[in-house]
Amino acid sequence: MNRIFSGVQPTGNLHLGNYLGAIRNWVELQDDYDCIFCIVDLHALTLPQDPEGLRGHTREVTAAYLAAGIDPEKCIIFNQSSVPGHSELAWLFACITPLGWLNRMTQFKEKAGKHRENAGLGLYAYPVLMAADILLYKATHVPVGEDQKQHLELSRDIAGAFNRQYETDYFPLPEPQILGEATRVMSLRDGSNKMSKSDPSDYSRINMTDDADTIALKVRRARTDPEPLPDTVDGLEGRPEAANLIGIYAALTRTTRADVVAAFGGKMFSEFKDALATVAVDTLGPIGAEMQRLLAEPGLVDGVLHRGAERAGEIARHHLSEIHRIVGLLRP
Ligand code: AMP
Ligand code: TRP
Repeated sequence: MNRIFSGVQPTGNLHLGNYLGAIRNWVELQDDYDCIFCIVDLHALTLPQDPEGLRGHTREVTAAYLAAGIDPEKCIIFNQSSVPGHSELAWLFACITPLGWLNRMTQFKEKAGKHRENAGLGLYAYPVLMAADILLYKATHVPVGEDQKQHLELSRDIAGAFNRQYETDYFPLPEPQILGEATRVMSLRDGSNKMSKSDPSDYSRINMTDDADTIALKVRRARTDPEPLPDTVDGLEGRPEAANLIGIYAALTRTTRADVVAAFGGKMFSEFKDALATVAVDTLGPIGAEMQRLLAEPGLVDGVLHRGAERAGEIARHHLSEIHRIVGLLRP
């Protein structure tokens, strides 16, 4: 069976983009693939984290996976740092990855900002660790939002470089799965920026833990333009806020943008926003409530992670011993 690996960073403020771009798709893939879903805590450390916050957010992302419908009996759910092989394989890959490849990564440029000289080595090496995450399990498919496409291409390049260097076909070239109508959910405050955990304005995103009133308020306050909704998809051209809200509605109702403009074309935003708030609350409300319930049960989430780490660790150790043999590391 083909294997899936994907992950979310435990950096707080899990939002609708994480859900529609990633987690919801995973739920649908779990019957057809051998799935490994990770909470990538080592990646979170590429930017400063409060230790207690990091632990809490790791549990919160785990609860979100479970509440969204990922079944820990079918899938492996674990946190990255509990399997030491991720860091080890990242080092082996770091030794074969040309700097030129990393210099092309747009996410590093965004996150490092103006003072690139002060950015950490970990932030720079972030995509190498991501390649190690995927390839440690020889995963063939990686369901992610659109923003991870470039990192996935680098993972394929690293797998290819390893195979060439050691004259082997050991690693598969992992394929991105960018699925659904909302692969890039934009900020509710600015349709040209991605919805993101780190946006200082909470009104820019709908969090997976927001209650019904908060979701409705954020949708009502979402930026729009003064025109009524267009009645064709082409009419969304140059109207990023309208395009975003319509894409979100389509994803939430599992229809298409064409269906949504057919239903709401010519209507005012106020009417459309009421409908959008209703479907957002219907989808996220039960998930948020289930997350709270899971997090209130002591030991439940940690038990899932513990069991997942054992299962992931077993695969990782097996592959690492093969990788050691290929590269010539001695295991006396
Ligand atoms: P991160 O929050 O960066 O750890 O991302 C976790 C997953 O959510 C990845 O698969 C991302 O591609 C996806 N994701 C993050 N933000 C968005 C967004 N605004 N729209 C769609 N997918 C997203
Ligand atoms: N870089 C991804 C993100 O921020 C998270 C991630 C880390 C990941 N390792 C991964 C996603 C491996 C897929 C596969 O969204």
